[in-house]
Amino acid sequence: MADNTDITSGEESLDDARKVSGKSAANGKRPATNGKKRANGKVATAGTKTSVKDTGEVSLETDTTTAITRRRLLGTAGAAGATALIAGGAAGAAGAGVVRDKPDPLTSVGTGVVPFHGPHQSGIVQPAQAHGHLVAFDLAPGADRRAAAALMRRWSASAAEMMGGRAPQGDESGTALDAGPSSLTITFGFGRSFFDRTGLVDRRPAALEPLPAFTGDALDPKRGEGDLWVQIGADDALVAFHALRLLQKKAGETARLRWQMNGFNRTPGATARPMTGRNLMGQIDGTNNPKPSDKSFSTRVFVPDNVEGAEAWMAGGSYAVVRRIRMLLDSWDHLSLERQERVIGRRKSDGAPLSGGTETTPVDLDKVGPDGALAIPGDAHVRVASPASNRGAAMLRRAFSYHDGFRDDGAPDAGLLFIAWQADPMKGFVPVQRKLDRGDGLSRFLRHESSGLYAVPGGCEKGEYVGQRLLED
Ligand code: HEM
Repeated sequence: MADNTDITSGEESLDDARKVSGKSAANGKRPATNGKKRANGKVATAGTKTSVKDTGEVSLETDTTTAITRRRLLGTAGAAGATALIAGGAAGAAGAGVVRDKPDPLTSVGTGVVPFHGPHQSGIVQPAQAHGHLVAFDLAPGADRRAAAALMRRWSASAAEMMGGRAPQGDESGTALDAGPSSLTITFGFGRSFFDRTGLVDRRPAALEPLPAFTGDALDPKRGEGDLWVQIGADDALVAFHALRLLQKKAGETARLRWQMNGFNRTPGATARPMTGRNLMGQIDGTNNPKPSDKSFSTRVFVPDNVEGAEAWMAGGSYAVVRRIRMLLDSWDHLSLERQERVIGRRKSDGAPLSGGTETTPVDLDKVGPDGALAIPGDAHVRVASPASNRGAAMLRRAFSYHDGFRDDGAPDAGLLFIAWQADPMKGFVPVQRKLDRGDGLSRFLRHESSGLYAVPGGCEKGEYVGQRLLED
């Protein structure tokens, strides 16, 4: 029997990188977390002081200068109280979730700010926010590489402003007025067709080869792929919508909307303590993700800095596999709780593996029950998906749930906007999905309805834009 301790052993909560303030702007005004660094490394904010430490840690302190460090599991969608999160580029691959475990005033949800600039784009290592928009664009006929470069410059500048809690120049929409940055992240990616459209086929990464077909696929091409992909996440719905709308407007004549999907996760402050989020089947989902504190995290999730040749522009980048997976909730709800738990291999109440322990106890795939049967069934999702069953293949899952009303047959049109991050899809999503396609008990309750694969370049520094190394070098 395979040994699952090698890859999945990093079970503990994240324990680095974020220090978070305990108070919010009591006056309800949008906090001026504009990320401007002073000579001493401190960042000036109204009512708060943020400093970037040598270690890459970012500390946001209140007027009382009490910064509180807490642990947080990546994948935790809804944390107790306000979870002003500070991470991303500055924290890099080691960026981790650290939150308070005491409830805070709800207004502090707005104060979370994620830096736009840094070695990696935001929206990968940060916990998934309460509201998400996934959107793909196609370049307009006639839009060439120069037009694409100008678009990426516009989008990057706007994203940096909005993530800092400021309205981009010329934006008088008012949609996000009064709200803080609310942990807004904006992530940009290039689809396979982008390279054809911009005459950059010789720079197209091999990793953008189309994904293989899987037997369980029922894909709608109109809702998949696309030249450009944007992922938006924020803990406030208006802030997320504002970012989406503004980027659509900034696309101007250069790019046209291809598809859009809207998702959500548990709202910060909805649970009494920070915990891993649940999906629409009710399961705790995200427990056994690679953790930024794992030694192998960076190599699994990010393209190495020293990558050379035609793909050098992808240094510090990652590949996103995006699947809209509808859940057959009516069928699922007919299963008894015990059957549901055996389909996953974990308890529903607390996410503990059926081999025993608590949510964070390593899964014991060899454990046999008193009846002589495997504690975690042969087709349980966690067994079939585990790195141990897939020659070490692993990915970072960072999903949003979705609910688009009801289908003609009355069934809920709901499920998971599954997003997997990895340095190479052939060592992450593809082998695992191949295995799931053949022998996963959960797949009977799922329909993969759309698919996209995107090259997400590394982050950029101030004065640069995302994708510049591809579009200008
Ligand atoms: C709607 C679709 C899906 C649902 C509801 C779902 C649900 C879950 C749940 C509840 C867990 C256990 C908790 C955890 O470790 O996160 C889990 C684990 C996992 N899932 Fe999924 N999953 C879905 C699709 C997928 C897909 C498409 C893949 C990859 C191709 C995948 C890969 C994994 C992996 C790698 C694990 C961790 C296994 C381990 O090492 O313990 N899942 N999933």
